[in-house]
Amino acid sequence: MTDYTVEFVGTGETITVSDKDTILSRCIEEGIAQEFSCRVGMCLACSAEIIEGEVTQPAARGLTDAEREDYALTCMARPQSDLKLDRGKYPPSIEDEVDVDADGTDAAAADD
Ligand code: FES
Repeated sequence: MTDYTVEFVGTGETITVSDKDTILSRCIEEGIAQEFSCRVGMCLACSAEIIEGEVTQPAARGLTDAEREDYALTCMARPQSDLKLDRGKYPPSIEDEVDVDADGTDAAAADD
């Protein structure tokens, strides 16, 4: 097991995360206000932009292959190096999640 330092830019918060732990689980333990919802790599709520470093996140199904280089889903991501992350930054594909009409309804559902 190897421990890495994870720093959150903008807040200066820094935690230690082993390569066996997810970043989100350590945030919860340390009382860091990292958003999350599904905890299974699908909703993107826990996304952070990777400013520096590398993670492994094979189960981060909510990210496209291209987005995996630049974004970490903290509920799935485990560090592979020291990291600098920017919490609350979301990949472009989050715009595809729900196509909402002007009246607030789901556009895809309205087309059925
Ligand atoms: S909490 Fe949903 S993708 Fe991480």
